[in-house]
Amino acid sequence: MHTIGWTCAVCGAHTPIAQPFSWRCPASTDADRHHAPQLVQGLAPLRSTGELNPFLGFREYLAWDAFAAESGFNEAARIALITELDEQVAAVAGTGFVTTPFERADALSDELGFLADGGVWVKDETQHVAGSHKARHLFGILLHLVAAERSGLAPWSSPATRQPLAIASCGNAALAAATLAAAVQWPIRVFVPTSANVRVTDSLRALGATVVECPRLATDPPGDPCVHRFREAVAAGAVPFSVQGTENAWCLDGGRTIGWEMARHMEETIEGPPFDRLFVQVGGGAFAASVAAGFRMSGITPRLHAVQTHACAPLERAWELAPSVGGPRHAAEHWADCMWPWEHVGHSAADGILDDETYDWLPVLRAMVDGHGSPVIASEDDVLMANEIGCRTTGIDASHTGTSGLAGLFAIREHVAADERVAVIFSGVRR
Ligand SMILES: Cc1ncc(COP(=O)(O)O)c(C=O)c1O
Ligand SMILES: [Zn+2]
Repeated sequence: MHTIGWTCAVCGAHTPIAQPFSWRCPASTDADRHHAPQLVQGLAPLRSTGELNPFLGFREYLAWDAFAAESGFNEAARIALITELDEQVAAVAGTGFVTTPFERADALSDELGFLADGGVWVKDETQHVAGSHKARHLFGILLHLVAAERSGLAPWSSPATRQPLAIASCGNAALAAATLAAAVQWPIRVFVPTSANVRVTDSLRALGATVVECPRLATDPPGDPCVHRFREAVAAGAVPFSVQGTENAWCLDGGRTIGWEMARHMEETIEGPPFDRLFVQVGGGAFAASVAAGFRMSGITPRLHAVQTHACAPLERAWELAPSVGGPRHAAEHWADCMWPWEHVGHSAADGILDDETYDWLPVLRAMVDGHGSPVIASEDDVLMANEIGCRTTGIDASHTGTSGLAGLFAIREHVAADERVAVIFSGVRR
């Protein structure tokens, strides 16, 4: 594999892959987070070793693998490290990292009026580590941390003097982060709003996380107080254990395993034409960015529909504004003109995708352009119906956030032909 490193899509700054703790673009500051490091990686035909754990099966495509090799780990040591940490995760989570099911949902396809040649394929992430795909993003960061620590590249000298992990989230990302932290007994601080779901905060505490409630302080600048406290912790030395590429670009590495799994499964086991469309629910955007990047490495650029709701749709607004700044391919030069926090975030049952800003919007925009896709805004009716019909017909117990990609299909069903092949991801078990 020819991993070269990170190049910022906004300022062009390059960071070699060997550099440890390269979480953000070197030009990113507290006052200016408008940077977007992207992996620049030689294209090799995507193949899996066939191992069930995607971090092993697709290991050589991970940027982490190149980082660890540069840090002195030979191939056997890299495989051993993934295996060791995976076993520790499984001991806490009840499952380690595995290739998740991805099948044609026959009853759902029938109910939506698809023909036998077409239909809806559902990737089920709800039984995965911590009940969603989020742990995939974070496992890559954890591998990086442990590899750096063991090769003497971390700023602490032993596990006893580790800096804590930090994350601002009160949903699936927080649970995934606390699960991985518990697996390796790494202290973690989770910054949550005062309105956080008590079941989630109880689970976080049960996993040993320090939950920090973040009321708005009179001295706070605009923006989410959880993010302010998170950034203060990071400025004081904590590790950004975040699923936002703007806070830790390394989350975009392991996140690709889901795209790799889908692309390979499609090529290896599904007869007939490839997928016509891929609907992915978008909050901060790391998920869709990673899925699309994973597909791209297999040489497939499906028509990507990034799905948001009427309650909060900053990505769709950016898409609409892009032509006025010279088109989506020039959007990176015009971040502030296209992407800013949604002013009045409404309510939706799909509350996990209400991020007021699509932090990782640039790679999602690019993927939609490349695959001739488009953003889709789902109505609340679509969100509710997709969850009811999606869960009933598949037997998967997903949250409304988890089925909101399917809600995007509901929203534009009349524009999708009955013989088209559509892929969605149910991620986020109902809690
Ligand atoms: C189940 C589920 N799906 C999708 C998303 C959206 O991911 P992202 O914020 O990376 O766009 C989230 C984020 O919280 C989620 O919990
Ligand atoms: Zn930059």
